[in-house]
Formats: sequence, C-alpha cells, structure tokens
Amino acid sequence: MSEIQNIQWFPGHMTKAKRKIQAGLKLIDVVVEIIDARIPVSSSNPDLAQIIENKPKLVLFNKCDKADKNATQKWVNYYQKNGIKALPVDCKSGRGLNKFIPALREMLSDKFEAQKAKGIKNPILRVMIVGIPNVGKSSFINRISKQTRAKVEDRPGVTRGNQWYTISNDLEMLDTPGVLWPKFDDEKVGLHLAFTGAVKDRVLDIELLAMDFLEAMQKNATPEFLARFKLKEDDIKNLSSYELLELIGKKRGMLISGGEIDTERAANLIFDEYRDGKFGNITLELPPEKNGD
Ligand code: G4P
Repeated sequence: MSEIQNIQWFPGHMTKAKRKIQAGLKLIDVVVEIIDARIPVSSSNPDLAQIIENKPKLVLFNKCDKADKNATQKWVNYYQKNGIKALPVDCKSGRGLNKFIPALREMLSDKFEAQKAKGIKNPILRVMIVGIPNVGKSSFINRISKQTRAKVEDRPGVTRGNQWYTISNDLEMLDTPGVLWPKFDDEKVGLHLAFTGAVKDRVLDIELLAMDFLEAMQKNATPEFLARFKLKEDDIKNLSSYELLELIGKKRGMLISGGEIDTERAANLIFDEYRDGKFGNITLELPPEKNGD
C-alpha cells in the first residue's frame, strides 16, 4: 500500500497540494487525471475543474481489471458525452496504455499545428498526472516510462526539483504526480474509498462498510457473489442490508453464544473475499442513467 494513503487532509495540506499543482500547471499542456474505475465518483477530486481552469484534461479509468467492464464502458461514454476524453487502463499489467499517447496527440493536434505554424519546428507537449492517493499515479508513471523507455532528466535551474520524463521526442511528463484529496462531504465516499482500500477501513465501522457493499449487491449482484453464498437474486432484494449480512453470517456458521449471528465476523469475511476478487469485478458507482448508455 502506498504511504500517502495515510495523509490526513487538513485545510493546510489541501492548500499546499493545490499550490503545487497550480505551479506545475504553468509548465504543462494537458492534465491527466487518474480515477479508480470501480468508484469514479468517490475517487475524483471535487475541486479539480476549478484548480486546472481551462487546461485540457484526459481521464484514465485505472484498475479496470477489477471493475465491471460494462460499467467502465458506460463511464467512458458518459465522460465522452460531457466532452471529456477518457480511457480505461490497468496500470498493473499495462493494458490499455497503448492508447494513451495517440489520445494525447489527438487532443493536442490543434496546439501542435498552431506551434508549427509559428515556426516551432519540433513542438513538445507536456503532461502532468494528478489523482487522489492510491489511485495508481506512481504505477502509471512507472508503466508508461518502461513501455516507452522514457528518459528521466533533471533540469537544474529551470524549476528546482522538477524532473521530467521524456516519453517520446514530442512528449514529456512531469515526474512528480499531483496528489489530490477526495470528497469529504458524503459518507458514501468514505465508505467506498475504504472499501477499495484507498483509506484504511480500520478507522471505519466494518459492519457499516459491509452493509453499504451489500446494498450495492442487492441492486446489482454479480454471479460470483450469489454463487459464493448460495443466494438467489430475488431472495436478497427484499431484505435490509443488515438482514443480508446476518444471512451471510448464518450461512457461514458464524454464531456467537445464544445463537446470535456474529455480524462483525461476517463483515470482515465479506471484505477479505471482495479484496481477494472472489466476488468478480465490481463497480460500485454508475453514471446517471440517461447519459451512460
Ligand atoms: P498512487 O501513486 O496514486 O498513490 O498509487 P500507486 O501507484 O502506489 O498504486 C496504489 C496501489 O494500487 C498499488 O497496490 C498498485 O499496485 C495498485 N494498482 C495501481 N494500478 C492498478 C491497476 O490498474 N490494477 C490493479 N489491480 N492494481 C493497481 P499496492 O497494494 O500498494 O502494492 P502492490 O500490491 O501492487 O505491491
């Protein structure tokens, strides 16, 4: 797990992070925002649009190996309809990253042409990577630099401490990723971030976390989840999420004295199995219906 997931975001930290990103913005042409494909709402930053103002943005739905394929496609379509280019990627295996550079070139073709028209023979495009902790920024930078055999260059005197990866002869990437904070105002966001491991679940009520997940399964269960607990889709729809948690505990023989069900153990089991991928690929957040088809 990345260390920065333990950062507590106080207003001072947010101001510093924002300043750092804004300082970087002056040096780049495109912002690449990395989002977790399983929780696109909770893993995006609420203030990014305002921070980057009118810089073009490319979105990467990372960890798509763990998300529901159809849901990821719906998200890509939804972003597309809202005028934002998005690509599904898996920075662990590198899947989807071959589309990254062509997408950037396409996005910036006007700028390229304008620079050429001004007499700049070999215009260079520069990008910056931003995202909340644990979303895969370092993994992305490592992958893309290996795939493209990028060279790291230190340019003392230009901006202290700023290193660049030369990805190709016309593309450079600022090597310090912009770490952003998630949304805090919604309890669901905290639950979803904990669920996917972006924040520690130790700090949250594990049963509440499990109930939130079970609610998502009641709406849209994967076949793997149903099979794992020998459940039928119709049977779980009419239960409360707590009753479903109890049912799972009961099925696994998790009883405490007096015949009561050990719902805390059941909740922990649900997490362990989810994180081991035993419930299949799950996306916990979907785009608004009418725009996501
Ligand atoms: P950050 O810089 O944004 O904080 O994120 P980082 O790259 O450190 O990635 C955080 C965790 O997410 C790492 O797991 C990393 O391997 C994993 N990860 C990144 N991209 C993907 C992806 O596309 N798919 C999957 N399945 N995982 C991804 P970790 O548990 O911290 O380390 P490790 O187990 O990989 O060693």
